[in-house]
Amino acid sequence: MDLFEYQARDLFEKHGVPVLAAEVVTEAADAGPAAERVGADSGGVVVVKAQVKVGGRGKAGGVKLAKSPQEAVEAAEQILGMDIKGHTVGAVMIAQGARIAEEYYFSLLLDRTNRSLLAMCSKEGGMDIETLAEERPEALARVAVDPGTGIDDAKAREILEQAGFETADVDAIAPALVRLWDVYKGEDATLVEVNPMVRTEDGQVLALDGKVTLDDNADFRHEDHAALADTAAADPLEAKAKEMGLNYVKLDGNVGIIGNGAGLVMSTLDVVAYAGEEHTAGQARPANFLDIGGGASAEVMSNGLDVILNDEQVRSVFVNVFGGITACDAVATGIVKALEILGDEATKPLVVRLDGNNVEEGRAILAEAAHPLVTIEDTMDGAARRAAELAAN
Ligand SMILES: Nc1ncnc2c1ncn2[C@@H]1O[C@H](COP(=O)(O)OP(=O)(O)OP(=O)(O)O)[C@@H](O)[C@H]1O
Ligand SMILES: [Mg+2]
Repeated sequence: MDLFEYQARDLFEKHGVPVLAAEVVTEAADAGPAAERVGADSGGVVVVKAQVKVGGRGKAGGVKLAKSPQEAVEAAEQILGMDIKGHTVGAVMIAQGARIAEEYYFSLLLDRTNRSLLAMCSKEGGMDIETLAEERPEALARVAVDPGTGIDDAKAREILEQAGFETADVDAIAPALVRLWDVYKGEDATLVEVNPMVRTEDGQVLALDGKVTLDDNADFRHEDHAALADTAAADPLEAKAKEMGLNYVKLDGNVGIIGNGAGLVMSTLDVVAYAGEEHTAGQARPANFLDIGGGASAEVMSNGLDVILNDEQVRSVFVNVFGGITACDAVATGIVKALEILGDEATKPLVVRLDGNNVEEGRAILAEAAHPLVTIEDTMDGAARRAAELAAN
């Protein structure tokens, strides 16, 4: 889960990373009083920042300096509702203004290739770090971090020295890096990025912007993380699928897809997309990704069908199952029971293709049930074509 900047800021504060006072508002009128409180120690100067989960907000006009509460309201009026790379701004953060002397870059992320963590650090932060990494890679230090030992004072100094910081700066910044490690480890993050980390004119080191990605697999260790989810943006069907423990992603086509195993479901999407182009002139496209996994019990199958059939865009469903550990007869029984459970709620045609372990028994079970909505197809291509045609007509 990616966090908003203000959520990252709050986690930074919780772990002792130096940050500035800030408040979040969703109505421009509230920006005035917020600016008064937040700007009390900075001569009334605040920065109004769009809260969207996408980079480059500053360049898009989503970060504005305001020298009075009135200016803060005006900035909030301009930024709220703004579209930044397809993300609509629903909230702004009013942050205390900093007198910046220098801007740095720091990030810590999971480095899967090297089975390690990777710290990246530069004396030249603030700007587009991807450009810096490409044009002058020597200006961006890359230091492997052992996940077992993390970043202690010595490691923080090593990172900063590699990035070319002078001793006085190393002394000043190292404690912040150790705290950022606390954030990474303590919150089970896969990314912690600070761009810019700044030194102010009076020598303070501050995290002025934060990007944090949390590892959803560790949610069970963090009851408080559920509250960080952006429920307003979540698709209701995706939320329902998540509740049921299903691996579901909503797409915007009209052929519902159920398969067992992520690889099979991915290729099913391809085959349906192709069949839609080939046989329906692009009228049929996949409506979702849904992997019901290896143990496709009747309950899992009916939960999956329940989610898909509730998608208003869905006109037909393609159930594509390869019998392995859970054999085809068990899956067929699952489909029949699922349709029983759903009863009248099942109203859209289902095309089922079974193959693999106990395929004959599986097809026999479906044939015997003879459900009026179910068509059995022998091949994946044939089933994809049939499902596409049903969706297009
Ligand atoms: N509290 C602040 N006080 C003074 N200047 C700030 C403050 N916050 C941000 N800035 C300035 O605005 C610039 C852009 O801010 P920020 O890094 O938060 O947004 P961004 O980099 O455009 O967004 P993103 O990180 O999403 O690409 C910073 O580099 C900094 O110069
Ligand atoms: Mg930034």
